[in-house]
Amino acid sequence: MNEAKKLWAEKYGEVENTLAGIKNVKSVVTAFNTNIDAVIKISGKKLASLAKKENLDWESLNDISDYAIHTPQDVVKGAFRCFSKGIAEEWLIDDINAYNWLMENIGYDRLQMGGQGGIVANALSVCGVQKVINHCGSLPQKQADLFLKRENLFSFDMNGNMTPAYQINRSNDIPLIHWIIEFDKDDEFDFDGYRIVCPKANRFIATYDPVNSQLIIDKNFISYMDNAKAEAVVLSGYHALTAEKNGVSLVEKTVPIIEKWRKNGAIVHLEVASTQDETVRKAIVDKIASKVDSLGLNERETIEVLQVIGEKSLADICEAEVSAVNLFEAVSKIKQKTACRRIQMHMFGLYLTIQDSNFKITPEKTRAGMCLAAMIAAAKAGTGHINDENNLLWAKGKNASDVGLKELQSLSHYLKSRQLLDEGICDYEGYKVIAVPTILVEKPKTLVGMGDTISSVSLVGSL
Ligand code: GLC
Repeated sequence: MNEAKKLWAEKYGEVENTLAGIKNVKSVVTAFNTNIDAVIKISGKKLASLAKKENLDWESLNDISDYAIHTPQDVVKGAFRCFSKGIAEEWLIDDINAYNWLMENIGYDRLQMGGQGGIVANALSVCGVQKVINHCGSLPQKQADLFLKRENLFSFDMNGNMTPAYQINRSNDIPLIHWIIEFDKDDEFDFDGYRIVCPKANRFIATYDPVNSQLIIDKNFISYMDNAKAEAVVLSGYHALTAEKNGVSLVEKTVPIIEKWRKNGAIVHLEVASTQDETVRKAIVDKIASKVDSLGLNERETIEVLQVIGEKSLADICEAEVSAVNLFEAVSKIKQKTACRRIQMHMFGLYLTIQDSNFKITPEKTRAGMCLAAMIAAAKAGTGHINDENNLLWAKGKNASDVGLKELQSLSHYLKSRQLLDEGICDYEGYKVIAVPTILVEKPKTLVGMGDTISSVSLVGSL
């Protein structure tokens, strides 16, 4: 194990060069979802008092019908569900009264950039991509304020001019606010004679977003993209769609757009994101996953994809034991069924990519991108943000985690490849497998947006 740790320290020693290489990337586009995250830490005590105020009892608190927010009671139910299980979920608010209730009764500690598109745009801009172009469905001043004040980060103003995003104010647009309600591990919830202890720090997202939930796309962005020469597009934003509100046809409508971007030479990466609506999730997998060059998912999203591709029993196996070996089987299955050229999964301690042998990015470059992503994710977890380029290599000198090395070891036994443990690369049934044990930070200061950062830095760092 110590030997493997040393070999990985050498690979992590190369991240400075990989980061410097990003300055040669001319342009990356991020779309579609950008929003405002209103972040608040809530205690079990406060949650219990809100449950009481909203006249819930133990039974009604646990009576969940459709994982959506129609009333303030639903906010409390969703937050309690995530608190009690230590899980992350996002529910959509369909009534402005529930939104107003959140504002009055919960409020927020801070506003920060939200949505895969916005988070990735800020991250890649700090990493030094020459030009990052972000799609915003809505860009009032409040949203613009959350873009980093950097001259390499653009969006479109109301006249369609490409302008540094932080300078734009589309004053007729409405702010799209998503509540990120965070809670701490071991916090207690005492209510109606029951006591629940939160098993894992996590968050509940309550989203009010009439623009992204209808996938409203800025036409200025689309016409710019008609002739744009982007090296990569990082795509997301389907997860807020619902079948009831036309979600499937909204997914389908983007297929020709994606095809055009690919034809213009971009590598298109889809960040899958957790999609509650199973019909929409299936449409994303069936219609988009097979069209893009690359997919990014975490372990939860991997399981969710298995559920809609007829692999329920494999999903149950992964659910029962979230291990590198089980998730390897899951990712290979998704690769077979979608024929997507590159799939990257990130889990606690390990990143795993399976790509075609003749994929346009070599396995060595993929590995370098993944090491850089792990380094930058550790900086984000350790310091709470990556807004400053001097912060990016904060974790330099830290070793690959024991958790990650153990997972890698069991995967390399399973695949009978010592090379996978030492080099992080091996062949498997005609594909290339690349696995990287990550650097872990004891008490992460933030988790939201971590997956988006990992996937996008991995890809762009490997270009
Ligand atoms: C989802 C949420 C958004 C959050 C993001 C983080 O897109 O809607 O609010 O910032 O996930 O990954």
